[in-house]
Amino acid sequence: MNVAVIHGSPRKAGSSDTLARWFLDGLNSRGVHRVTEFFANEMSVRPCQGCEACNDPAHPGCSIHDDMDAVYEAVRRANLVVWAIPMYWGYMTAQTKILVDRMEAIASRSVFRGKTFVVILTYRHHYESTLAFFKRVFVDYFGVNLHTLTFRSVDATSGQDIHVRTRPDVLESALNLGRSLAAELGSL
Ligand SMILES: Cc1cc2nc3c(=O)[nH]c(=O)nc-3n(C[C@H](O)[C@H](O)[C@H](O)COP(=O)(O)O)c2cc1C
Repeated sequence: MNVAVIHGSPRKAGSSDTLARWFLDGLNSRGVHRVTEFFANEMSVRPCQGCEACNDPAHPGCSIHDDMDAVYEAVRRANLVVWAIPMYWGYMTAQTKILVDRMEAIASRSVFRGKTFVVILTYRHHYESTLAFFKRVFVDYFGVNLHTLTFRSVDATSGQDIHVRTRPDVLESALNLGRSLAAELGSL
């Protein structure tokens, strides 16, 4: 299947990146998939300018042309979109939010309905606001099928930050989700 992965953390190989990697390993262990990965922190994507040009049916698409062009193409083509996002100040990272705002240019039920989203959320205290966004907008409105994987990156006893690599059970869940979605959604 066609897969688009959006890495929203500035920390390469942090917990959200690592979970996305284990998920993809599970997916790739079952069939052949075309995977396109985007690291938001390394991309040149201008924030949405609110020009509303994309809402003019005569000129569909975004008036800005930058690294987002490749995201539009990959998301349109994708059966599965993976979002790997840490929580920053109560919501998704700014890097991710810029990409989400720019999705306005392709936001329609015909683009999103029937796609599967996997949302991987890493957090210290709470993730509900970001999860609520994906449910309200992408599931309830656009008709996306949603799977979530959450990881609290704090040791419950010591209160110290931990990396997901210290939690084989969580890594295993990501691997298994990849395997089961590959079986469910099929390969190329
Ligand atoms: C600037 C900053 C703000 C953060 N804000 C929150 C927050 O509001 N809520 C929360 O639960 N965790 C917050 N965190 C913790 C991260 O979400 C957490 O460390 C996460 O596991 C990092 O994921 P990563 O390893 O993929 O980068 C914040 C971390 C940073 C650096």
